[in-house]
Amino acid sequence: MCRYFSMKTCRGLALLAVVVFLQTGQAAEKERSGELVYQTICQYCHETGVGPELGLRQLPAVYTTHVVRHGFRAMPAFRPTEICDLELERVAAFIERNKGGGE
Ligand code: HEC
Repeated sequence: MCRYFSMKTCRGLALLAVVVFLQTGQAAEKERSGELVYQTICQYCHETGVGPELGLRQLPAVYTTHVVRHGFRAMPAFRPTEICDLELERVAAFIERNKGGGE
């Protein structure tokens, strides 16, 4: 293939292949873990006294999912572009099974 292209083009194509490869690799890890979503989004209000304490109450995941998507009185709703379905599922599961003790 390099016989038909200059060396520069060839190197460019190789670089492009690497970039595409790296980006596909990252796409698989794009969704944040439940703990990370909790720490970066929920904690901001829920561990500062703005919202009620969520940790250790083991609220059912279906309830948390509903509140996050639809909002609940002073609790803002979050769209799928902010927290995707998979991340919401993970953060709800994280809250439900959080029994403290670093679990
Ligand atoms: C901007 C601040 C804010 C953020 C960010 C926030 N919340 Fe809330 N949340 C609130 C407030 C305030 C309430 C209390 C609503 C009320 O009772 O008026 C609440 C209530 C809730 C409730 C109901 C609690 C109960 O006692 O029944 C759940 C569940 C909840 N939030 C989950 C979450 C999750 C999960 C996240 C992260 C994805 C999150 N919240 C992020 C402010 C926030």
